[in-house]
Amino acid sequence: MNALKQIHFYKLGSLAAIILVASLPMNAAAKDPYQRFMDSPDAATAFQYIHQVATHPRCANCHGVVDDSGSFYPTVGANRKPHPMNITIANNVILYQEGESYKQVEGVVLSCRSCHRDANGDKEGMPPGNATAAMPGFVWHMPQPNMTIPIGISAQSLCKKWLDPAHNSSHLAYRGGKDDLDTFKTEFFEHHAKLDPLVAWSWSPGPGREKAPGEHQDFIRAVGVWIDSGAPCPDK
Ligand code: HEC
Ligand code: HEC
Repeated sequence: MNALKQIHFYKLGSLAAIILVASLPMNAAAKDPYQRFMDSPDAATAFQYIHQVATHPRCANCHGVVDDSGSFYPTVGANRKPHPMNITIANNVILYQEGESYKQVEGVVLSCRSCHRDANGDKEGMPPGNATAAMPGFVWHMPQPNMTIPIGISAQSLCKKWLDPAHNSSHLAYRGGKDDLDTFKTEFFEHHAKLDPLVAWSWSPGPGREKAPGEHQDFIRAVGVWIDSGAPCPDK
């Protein structure tokens, strides 16, 4: 956002003065969380930026929603509409680890993998995809229902959810969580932020989709700054 709309030059005798006319209040609140983190990186600005990224449709769509009837499905598009063709968790690809690679459990008839391949479709409306050698076999799939990123979730709630093994079955939480920040950092920073092709995809989402805020490299840096400061949660 460009807060400085006009710059006026006045010549007052021999004194040249530059008067900046701001069209918006120049307080920090006018900037978005990404800009605030870039301007003054600390644990608080880092987590606000992480929250901005995670609640963006590029991340949140794949994490899915649980609706009033209890059905759990991925969402699509900027407004997080239910995935077309009644795709739900029943269509999920189930992965297990074998050495350094991920393998798929066979038997899901119409799985994410039937449409979502190793790269984005090249036209608008085609299924996105991403897979890389950094995590071989880690293909397009959705997480478990306790990892949803509900519309409007506060930064504090998201932070607590990620750090608390009682509310989350992810590797981040159950291998580490708030009681073991070294492991939490390995899982979140080294593994998820840096290497996970699904996270990386959010900044290269294919034709017709807005990328997640900021840049992947800055997101990685924010995760590092936040965890190295003890992973504090915001008070709202
Ligand atoms: C294509 C689907 C997909 C996309 C896109 C995606 N994720 Fe995930 N995410 C997953 C899956 C699957 C897991 C579960 C991994 C596991 O079981 O530990 C996961 C797990 C996570 C976790 C740990 C879960 C938790 O609740 O503790 C975090 C944090 C996370 N993702 C953040 C993000 C962020 C931030 C983005 C966007 C930059 C993103 N994800 C984009 C599929 C996705
Ligand atoms: C029959 C084909 C098909 C299957 C099966 C399928 N998808 Fe999709 N998916 C699509 C298409 C096509 C799109 C693009 C729709 C669009 O952009 O409007 C899409 C888009 C998405 C998006 C939207 C990305 C965004 O941010 O807008 C997500 C997330 C997603 N699928 C997750 C999944 C998951 C998870 C599964 C498995 C549980 C799955 N899909 C199974 C065809 C499929």
